[in-house]
Amino acid sequence: MFSNPWLLVIGFIANGTLVIVLILGVIFLATHLIMQWWSQPWPHANELKCKVTFGKTGETYEWDRSYRTLLNLMRKKGVKVNYDCEMGTCAKCAKKLEEGEVRWLVKPNRFPKEGVYYMCITEPATDITIKA
Ligand code: FES
Repeated sequence: MFSNPWLLVIGFIANGTLVIVLILGVIFLATHLIMQWWSQPWPHANELKCKVTFGKTGETYEWDRSYRTLLNLMRKKGVKVNYDCEMGTCAKCAKKLEEGEVRWLVKPNRFPKEGVYYMCITEPATDITIKA
C-alpha cells in the first residue's frame, strides 16, 4: 500500500498526534466545564425564596440565599442569637424548629437533639418557624 515505509511512519505519527491533541482537547474542555460548574451556585440557587418566621416575636422575613445561613439572616435582622464558632461545633446557635424543614449546609461534628438545628450551618428548605 505504501511504497515508502517512511510515509507509513509519518502517517502513524500524524494520526497519533491528532489523537493526542483530540484527547488533550477533550480533557481541557471537561476540566473547564467542571471548574465552571464547581464555581457556580446550584442552578436556580438564588431563586429559592422562603419565609422565615420567629415564633417569639412573630416577625417574618423573606429568605434568599444571599444570606447563606440562617444565622446571618438573624444577625442582619437583629434577632437575638448566641453564636461563636459559626461552623457547627460550639452549639451556641442551636434553635428549635417549630415548623417547616431546614437543610444542613455542612455536616455538624455532633448532631443536636431531634428538631434542633445549628443556625450557622443551615438554610431553610421550606417556609419555617423558628423558636427564637
Ligand atoms: S455558632 Fe457554633 S455551632 Fe453555630
